[in-house]
Amino acid sequence: MFPAIRLRRTRQSDWSRRLVSERALGVNDLVWSIVVSDRADPVEPVAAMPGVERLSLAALAKAAKEAQSLGIPAIALFPHIDPSKKDDQGSEAINPDGLIPQAIKTIKDAAPDVGVICDVALDPFTTHGHDGLLDDDYVANDGTVERLIEQALIQAEAGCDVVAPSDMMDGRIGAIREALEADGHHNTMILSYAAKYASGFYGPYREAIGSAAALKGDKKTYQMDPANRLEALREVELDIEEGADMVMVKPGLPYLDIVSLLAENYDIPVFAFQVSGEYAMIEAAAANGWIDGDRVMLESLMSFKRAGASGIITYFAKRAARLLNA
Ligand code: PBG
Repeated sequence: MFPAIRLRRTRQSDWSRRLVSERALGVNDLVWSIVVSDRADPVEPVAAMPGVERLSLAALAKAAKEAQSLGIPAIALFPHIDPSKKDDQGSEAINPDGLIPQAIKTIKDAAPDVGVICDVALDPFTTHGHDGLLDDDYVANDGTVERLIEQALIQAEAGCDVVAPSDMMDGRIGAIREALEADGHHNTMILSYAAKYASGFYGPYREAIGSAAALKGDKKTYQMDPANRLEALREVELDIEEGADMVMVKPGLPYLDIVSLLAENYDIPVFAFQVSGEYAMIEAAAANGWIDGDRVMLESLMSFKRAGASGIITYFAKRAARLLNA
């Protein structure tokens, strides 16, 4: 009882705060999400994400070297392709000489110590902007999974370390695992976007990869309902059984309860994706002088660690790494 107990005692100085701090945030927790473009311009700004640029392959090589020297463990790649290369089947997703295979090789040549994580989904490649193949207006599950298998194999073949299905089709983790094993890619990891919600927070990303104008309708028939919590447990349970090495929650900050729920219930590394809309909100408020951008960025990243995440996929990775290394 007070005054015997005064919780402020351990907060009184920097050294004692550091001593009793429960969580640490470090460079090893960061995955840098990068949008790569097939255009020749070295960089193109993304209007809804100040400070984020689509990178050409040459600029990507430079970024990969920066990641390596900062100690950022991995880069997560997202493609922006010329609209003329899109079709309703997302055929460019399974082009072995496409942008993503080239980007994987570019990173591996420039910075062999940096892990490469690739999104497995068709939305950057389809004219309709959906993650899978359409059967009338419905995203067909099983046919899409066949496509995703091919896409994952092409990524693994090009040297991708981690394939990350973000499509939310049923059964795709098991199917991709089986195909990877059969093709000799025993060590290619799978990071499953296991609990991915149908969210408004992806808005700026759709501008970044050029699927915003294309997207017809919404993704509610395959991505999760923001109201659901128990369903996330079922999604993760299945993905673990099917062979996922790591699982992800997406978006991040508005779904911290899900990160915490999964981290407490399963012995598998749980990642959080601080998505484009979260980035945009912090940047917009900081640009107006309403918040201290660096401080809020680090606080938001720490909150993922507090919730139990192994790591965070974030557009802030380079900036955060610089501050954390300072
Ligand atoms: C789609 C995909 C999305 C993101 C990553 N992969 C968007 C979507 O589901 O519509 C969002 C990333 C972000 O918002 O930063 N396969």
